[in-house]
Amino acid sequence: MESALYDIDAGVAVITLNNPSVNGLGLDLRRALVALLERAHEDDSVRAVVLIGSDRAFSGGADVKEFGTPKSSQEPNLLTVIRAVENAAKPVVAAIAGACMGGGLELALGCHFRVARADAQIALPEVKLGILPGAGGTQRLPRLVGLDTALNMIVSGNAVPAAKLKDTALFDAIVDDDLRKSAVDFARKVAQEQRPLKRVRDIRISDPYGEPYLQFARNTVAATARHFPAPLKCVEAVAAAYFKPFDEGMKIEREAFLWLLATPESRALRHAFLGERAAAKIPDVPADTPLRRIERVSVIGAGTMGAGIAMNFLNAGIPVVLLEMKQEALERGLAGIRKNYENSMKKGKLSQQQLDQRMALLQPTLSYADIGGTDLVIEAVFEDMGVKEQVFRQLDEVMKPGAILASNTSTLDMNRIASFTRRPQDVVGLHFFSPANVMKLLEVVRAEQTAKDVLATVMQLAKTIRKVAVVSGVCDGFIGNRMLKYYRNQANELLEEGASPQQIDRALEKWGMAMGPFRMGDLAGLDIGWSIRKRLYAENPGMKKSVIADRLCEMGRFGQKTGKGWYRYEPGKRDALPDPQVEEIIAAARAEAGITPRKVSDEEIVERCIFALVNEGARILEEGIAQRASDIDMVYLHGYGFPAHRGGPMLYAETVGLPAVVDKMRRFAAQPGGDAAFWTPAPSLVCLARSGESFN
Ligand code: NAI
Repeated sequence: MESALYDIDAGVAVITLNNPSVNGLGLDLRRALVALLERAHEDDSVRAVVLIGSDRAFSGGADVKEFGTPKSSQEPNLLTVIRAVENAAKPVVAAIAGACMGGGLELALGCHFRVARADAQIALPEVKLGILPGAGGTQRLPRLVGLDTALNMIVSGNAVPAAKLKDTALFDAIVDDDLRKSAVDFARKVAQEQRPLKRVRDIRISDPYGEPYLQFARNTVAATARHFPAPLKCVEAVAAAYFKPFDEGMKIEREAFLWLLATPESRALRHAFLGERAAAKIPDVPADTPLRRIERVSVIGAGTMGAGIAMNFLNAGIPVVLLEMKQEALERGLAGIRKNYENSMKKGKLSQQQLDQRMALLQPTLSYADIGGTDLVIEAVFEDMGVKEQVFRQLDEVMKPGAILASNTSTLDMNRIASFTRRPQDVVGLHFFSPANVMKLLEVVRAEQTAKDVLATVMQLAKTIRKVAVVSGVCDGFIGNRMLKYYRNQANELLEEGASPQQIDRALEKWGMAMGPFRMGDLAGLDIGWSIRKRLYAENPGMKKSVIADRLCEMGRFGQKTGKGWYRYEPGKRDALPDPQVEEIIAAARAEAGITPRKVSDEEIVERCIFALVNEGARILEEGIAQRASDIDMVYLHGYGFPAHRGGPMLYAETVGLPAVVDKMRRFAAQPGGDAAFWTPAPSLVCLARSGESFN
């Protein structure tokens, strides 16, 4: 397939970018653009050129497939293409519809004129990948839209509809009708009138308040960008557009681009971008697997999770039947959903009409007869195998053939759950995270017999409801909670050894975790873990007990909901306040165990908690529970508040260096009181560290 097409329309050469789906500026397309521009130049019958994309995209920018490969900079690189456009002797008009982003916008900025559809989406989103526009975007955009607008676009990376930029010099015409015809007419007119070619690089930015404004922007960005260097570099590059000649500004932009590209923060953001896309793929499920139709969904249980799960579908316009055991539980669930929408309305995020529409899609019921015809049912009843068995046996009776039967269980064996039905191929785990209408992660638990088309269907559905879905095999805790157990274990050990809950939380939060383990525990409720521990103690008599955590629970300290947990809370407030009573409990437990508390460094706290995650992550990979290391990172980024600038535990380990990580684990094992069994590095970690390879 030709990556760009060429035709002549009464003296105007129309070059159509033709690299679906979004005209990524890959090497083939770049080559074609240069060649076709040359062709138009040499053809005496051509008086002007129009560059046009598809309705979906003028161009979405760099080709994702070329990311990080030598192809991305191979000549003609984007700078060369833009130079060829800008230097062309005949007028070149960009005709813009759909996405015009990143390199795509930079290409359009190289054209002499721009005609856009009002709803075209204009953006320089590079900052979201921890870099900045590296092909003149920071130099040309401010010359056309002014410092203020350009900075807002470049620092936020957000898309702006073309219509919103109509008062700037970015577009020469904004049209609602036939874009191609308008652009060709415009190009012909420009040629006829012999209008001077508008080369953006020659424009000077005149802004009497430029200098103080840039200083203001610098201060604001420095105060808000926190862990990320890119936003400040964006400001510096735009400042160069204001203070320096074009070529010097281009040099400054280039240097900043290359510098940012090498930062761990940018590596982390690009890893997340690619990791999200990779997670959607299942190696043995072909991309063209026919999908089952999901037009109506039912949810069983209107508790904390069920209500949140239902909202995901309502928000996407998919009707939901919500089933409960008792009328009052059903009403509580419905009221919770309505209240949540009303809160969004108060914040201006939802209109009354939208609220009404969503509530109208929701059908409450107490009868299984009402859900039989739905295409997917998600069970979110109590976490008890007996209850799940009852529910799944009933579902097997009432659900229509081909319906997908899903469970939101967070710990139970999906293979067993599937065995309660005569259709285990239709059963899958859909593990949402709390609050289910907010958290982006969805663990898709693939049981032994889950059919491929069921997997393909739920992965697609996850996109519809805007979740990042990650496939997990069946094991206790799946990917996320299984690893978390090891992280928590270290937090508890450190507590016994001498650290306080405050110190541990603060150290991890300073490092970037959204919330430390003890504050998190208080938020989620400590009683759930306690009941699991009690079961485990009974099943494994020799098991080491979490004495401190158990004692808190014995005192009824279940976290925020009881006003006390690892911290104390003032009535109605969520601030975690240190509690002397907890300190006493910790001190007593240490004394009973004969532990003399020592000073623990923040560095040790972070390393032990995070490397515990890494080690279990490596085992999860070895066992094939996760398909790839980046999937584990997506679980942690989207479900556990892992810092975005570190890219997830597995990428972080690589950033530190796997040999250094293994070395640290061995040191933790060897230190006095160290748990040698816990710190045995996973065999695959040792192997990779030795061979110098990486996870991905
Ligand atoms: P919950 O106790 O808030 O809600 C359970 C609801 O199910 C109750 O309203 C109850 O009346 C209803 N129910 C029980 N048996 C039923 C039956 N046979 N038919 C219809 N309705 C029935 O529990 P929660 O927290 O929403 O948990 C539900 C499931 O989600 C559990 O499997 C849990 O492990 C899982 N989960 C919980 C998370 C959390 O953070 N709470 C996170 C991820 C998964």
